[in-house]
Amino acid sequence: MAVRSICMSHDLFRLIYVSTARPGLTETDMLSILNTSQSNNEERHITGYLAHNGASFMQLIEGPRAEVEDIFGRIMKDDRHSGVVRILAECSRTRAFPLWSMNYFRVDKDGQSTKVAGTMLARRDDPVDSLMTAEAPRDLIYTFSKFIRQA
Ligand SMILES: Cc1cc2nc3c(=O)[nH]c(=O)nc-3n(C[C@H](O)[C@H](O)[C@H](O)COP(=O)(O)O)c2cc1C
Repeated sequence: MAVRSICMSHDLFRLIYVSTARPGLTETDMLSILNTSQSNNEERHITGYLAHNGASFMQLIEGPRAEVEDIFGRIMKDDRHSGVVRILAECSRTRAFPLWSMNYFRVDKDGQSTKVAGTMLARRDDPVDSLMTAEAPRDLIYTFSKFIRQA
């Protein structure tokens, strides 16, 4: 994954954060987040990945720097989660997840993951970490698979 330290507002930028989900979030809340995300992200050329392990969220968003920073500003103010901590912010020449406007996986208590929305292809009975495409960078697959196992 080619990474550059400086990039302009229209250059490709990637950000990952973790946050604490508001207790009692319903499936309807989640679908509402997804609906907003899918239309906004597509319009703004943002792709990404949202994982929810029951207690916490981890999200990767990537796209033009100005768009990613604007959306992240909105996300930080959202009361459906709290304690948003940015764990990665970098410029890049390529997208880690080019095809996803926003996939979402919910991981149940027994560790089973359910594809709720999105376009990503996953084979039936795949273990959680193989739900990411083979092209996705290994370090990101590792980060997300560790996270979703912490349910
Ligand atoms: C965990 C989580 C992830 C979100 N991800 C996105 C996203 O990728 N794109 C997006 O447009 N909104 C996302 N949202 C919703 C935003 O916080 C916000 O509600 C939405 O962008 C509309 O912003 P506005 O109310 O300022 O118009 C997310 C919200 C949460 C709680």
